[in-house]
Amino acid sequence: MAPGLLAAEINVKDGESIQDAVNKAEPGDVILIHPGTYKESVYIDKDDITLRGVVVDGEWPVMEGEGKLNDAVLYSGNGVTVEWLTIQHYKGNAIMGQAGNNYVIRYNRVIDTGVYGIFPQLGKNGLVEYNTLSGIEDAAIYVGMCDNVVVRNNEVFENVAGIEIENTRHAIVENNYAHNNTAGLLVFITPGLPIKTAYDIILRNNFVVNNNTENFGEPGSLVGKVPKGIGVVIMAADDVIVEGNQISGNQTAGIVVTDLSFVTDIASDPESEPNPDRIAVLDNLMFDNGADPVAEIKAAMLTKFKRRGPDVLANLGSAQEPDNCIRNKEMYVTFGLDKWSKCERENTHDIDTYLLADGAPDREIENDEERIKRLYYGICAGCHAYNVRMIGPPTLAVQAIYHNNAEGIAEYIANPHKVRPDYPAMPTQSHLSPELRRKVAEFMLQVKK
Ligand code: HEC
Repeated sequence: MAPGLLAAEINVKDGESIQDAVNKAEPGDVILIHPGTYKESVYIDKDDITLRGVVVDGEWPVMEGEGKLNDAVLYSGNGVTVEWLTIQHYKGNAIMGQAGNNYVIRYNRVIDTGVYGIFPQLGKNGLVEYNTLSGIEDAAIYVGMCDNVVVRNNEVFENVAGIEIENTRHAIVENNYAHNNTAGLLVFITPGLPIKTAYDIILRNNFVVNNNTENFGEPGSLVGKVPKGIGVVIMAADDVIVEGNQISGNQTAGIVVTDLSFVTDIASDPESEPNPDRIAVLDNLMFDNGADPVAEIKAAMLTKFKRRGPDVLANLGSAQEPDNCIRNKEMYVTFGLDKWSKCERENTHDIDTYLLADGAPDREIENDEERIKRLYYGICAGCHAYNVRMIGPPTLAVQAIYHNNAEGIAEYIANPHKVRPDYPAMPTQSHLSPELRRKVAEFMLQVKK
C-alpha cells in the first residue's frame, strides 16, 4: 500500500507500550513516543512505519533494557524509520534491521546496548545519521550485507569497533567522529556469510582520533581479535577510497590495509577473495599515529629503524601490491607501501551519494522458502557464520551437534540456556512462531557454506 494518504499518528505515553502501537499501526503511520521509560523489545514486521521519539524540554523517551532484555527495536519491514530515541542497557542490539530495505535510523542516543548498537542487516538503500553511540562490545554501527548505504554525522566512542561496514557494497561513511574506540572505522569481509564481497566504499571527511581503548569484545569473536590503537582497518575489501579524514592519535597505526588473515583464517571461505584490492588513500590529515604500537608492529618498526609506528600500514596478502595507491606518500610514516602507486584520482567530489534516488524496491517475499531464508540470513547469520566463530558457534558446529534434530534446535532457540562458558548467552527467538522456529531450524541444518 502507498503510505501517506491515510497515514495516522499514534501517540504512546509513559506507562503505555510501544509494541501495542506497532500492532495497531498501518503502513505509513507515525508512532510518536513521548518522554518516559519504556522497558520492552519492539518488533516491526510491517512496511513504512516510523518510530519517532518526542523530545520535550530536553526530556527524551528512553528505551531501557535494564541489562535483561536483548533487543530494543527489531524491524523486518521496508521503509522503517527509527529516530529520536534514547536506548540503553540492552544485551543484544539497540536497533537491528533484518532484511528491510529503505531504512532511516537517525538522531538516536545509544548507550551500552550489548553486542551491536545500530545494525541494519541485509537491507538495500539505508541512511544512518546523527546518532551517538557508546559502550558497545562489538560494532557500534554495524552495516552488514547491505547495498547503497550512507553513514554520516554520527559520533561513536568507547566501543570496540566504531563503524563497521561488512560484506556491503556501495557505501559512503562521511563526517563521522570516531574516537576512543579500540578501532575507529572498519571495512571488512567476514567469511562464511552468504554475501561474499565488500567493495565500492568511500570513507571521507571523518575525524578518526585516539582509538586506543583496550579491546573489551568477547574473546574469540572476530572483533575481539582487533588490536587496539587503529584508526581505520580495511580487511579484504576492494575499491575503498579514504579521503579528507583527520586520522590522529591512534597508537598502533592510522590506517591498516590487510587481508583476511588479520583476524580470521583465509581458508575458512574459499568463495571470499581474501585480498584488499584497489585501495586508494587520497589526501588525509594524519599525525601522531603509531606512538605506542602493539607488539607485532613494534617488531616491524625495529627492523626499519623507525621511532614510531605507521600512519599507513599495508601488511598481509596483496596489501602491498601496486594496484593500491596513495597521494603524497612522503608526508606520512608508511610501512609496506614501497610498491604502491600514486593515485590518479584526486578526490571523490564527483560522487555525491550512493543512496538510490527512487529508493530500492520493497523486498517481496514470494514464497515460504524465501521467507525462511531471509529469516535465517537476516537474524541468525548476524551471529552464526558458516565455519567461523562470530558471536555464536559456527553453523557447522551446530549441525554436528544436532544432525537431523530440527525439533531440538527449534526448542533451544525458543528458550536458550547457557551451554558454553566462553560464549555470551543466545537471545530467545520466542517472537517467531513455533512453525517459523521449526522451519528456520531445518534451514540451519542444511546450510552448506
Ligand atoms: C545475537 C546473537 C545470536 C543470534 C541472533 C542467534 N544466535 Fe544462536 N547462538 C548464539 C550464541 C552466543 C550461542 C551460544 C550459546 C551458548 O553456548 O551458551 C548460540 C547457540 C545456538 C545454538 C546451539 C545450541 C546448543 O545446544 O549448543 C543453536 C542451535 C542456535 N544458536 C541457533 C540459532 C538460530 C536458528 C538463530 C536464528 C533464529 C540464532 N541461533 C540466532 C548467538 C545468537
